Amino acid sequence: MIESDQSNQPQRVLVTGGAGFIGSALLPMLLDQGTIVRILDVFMYGAEPIQPWMQHPRLELVRSDFRDPGAIQTALQDVDSVVHLGAIVGDPACDLDEGLTVETNLIATQQLAETARAMGVRRFILASTGAVYGASDEDLDENSELRPVSLYARSKIAAEKVLMALSSETFSPGILRFGTVYGISGRVRFDLVVNLLTAKALIDHEITVFGGDQWRTFIHVEDAARAVQAMLEAPLSRMRNQVFNAGSSQQNYTILEVGELIHALVPAANLLINECSVDRSNYRIKCTKIQRELGFVPQWTVEQGIRQVMTAIHSGRISNYRDPIYSNVKFLSQHREWIHRFYQGNHAWAYEMIHSPRLTRL
Ligand SMILES: NC(=O)c1ccc[n+]([C@@H]2O[C@H](COP(=O)([O-])OP(=O)(O)OC[C@H]3O[C@@H](n4cnc5c(N)ncnc54)[C@H](O)[C@@H]3O)[C@@H](O)[C@H]2O)c1
Repeated sequence: MIESDQSNQPQRVLVTGGAGFIGSALLPMLLDQGTIVRILDVFMYGAEPIQPWMQHPRLELVRSDFRDPGAIQTALQDVDSVVHLGAIVGDPACDLDEGLTVETNLIATQQLAETARAMGVRRFILASTGAVYGASDEDLDENSELRPVSLYARSKIAAEKVLMALSSETFSPGILRFGTVYGISGRVRFDLVVNLLTAKALIDHEITVFGGDQWRTFIHVEDAARAVQAMLEAPLSRMRNQVFNAGSSQQNYTILEVGELIHALVPAANLLINECSVDRSNYRIKCTKIQRELGFVPQWTVEQGIRQVMTAIHSGRISNYRDPIYSNVKFLSQHREWIHRFYQGNHAWAYEMIHSPRLTRL
């Protein structure tokens, strides 16, 4: 139970991007523990992921673009904590339009956090990504050098920095760097490797691995939500100014190993290796800090996640994994109405920051 820091009233938590893949797993968990959840989401991929809870007495909805300062003001009224999940997510989706990515992932984060601080929000959790580590052959922890290889990763590094710079005695920012997420939630994604290769194995009878020797750290979508919960429940002193890798040191796999895990469960599918890979990311993350400091231990394994995706397909819950609704880049390519500039003023600082060769040292 998340208690308000000043009274016995339940906390009000603002979740941006609450209708997304992680948000739709987090929502029922927070509601179940008595939290008042306010979702700020423009429902880019629809509102269906949170449909079952629409009438819940402790769910408050603000259906707006969080680039809009007016929407931010409304959404932040009487909020104790913010969980900022909303973003343009993934390398290909971010590459579609740099302006949309910079505005959403960086400028809006800065405005949301600044307004939250001014309005007395005490705790602000930013969803970042293991992709900030980029390409590295070492075992990485939160202090390792960042070597981003994509606009997505650069936008998240910049967002981390503007957030941390706002830290004060009364405003506690903290960052979760999620591994690659897998499994089923209200909004399933099939543009993520475990889910995608599992669907391909079942439907296309093929598991095609591109490259194969690049490492990734994985986390189930419910564990990702539980990591957020752990951060919300932690004493402020434990999470203030802290970065946590969110995943499991035991769930580091190469992409080929993921293919092999799926092949073991779907042996009728052919496991193929395509040497031509455009995937330059390669990271293997240690997740001991979040366990030590916040007591967070993932409950799912990748094998269990694969079985969960198989069940969702077998049961007919997922009828066509290729539907653009399951893929951020496919969906945004087809719904270009989302790709528009929002800000009028001069936000050159954000573009300069993201492109600065000194970004990781700023
Ligand atoms: N899924 C992963 O594998 C993964 C891995 C690492 C980090 N993360 C991070 O976790 C967070 C959540 O990821 P996800 O997979 O749930 O994302 P998602 O793409 O499923 O959901 C994003 C949500 O944000 C909303 N949104 C986007 N722009 C908005 C705007 N301007 N105004 C209002 N709402 C907006 C969308 O409508 C959507 O509901 C992201 O910040 C992402 O970078 C995710």
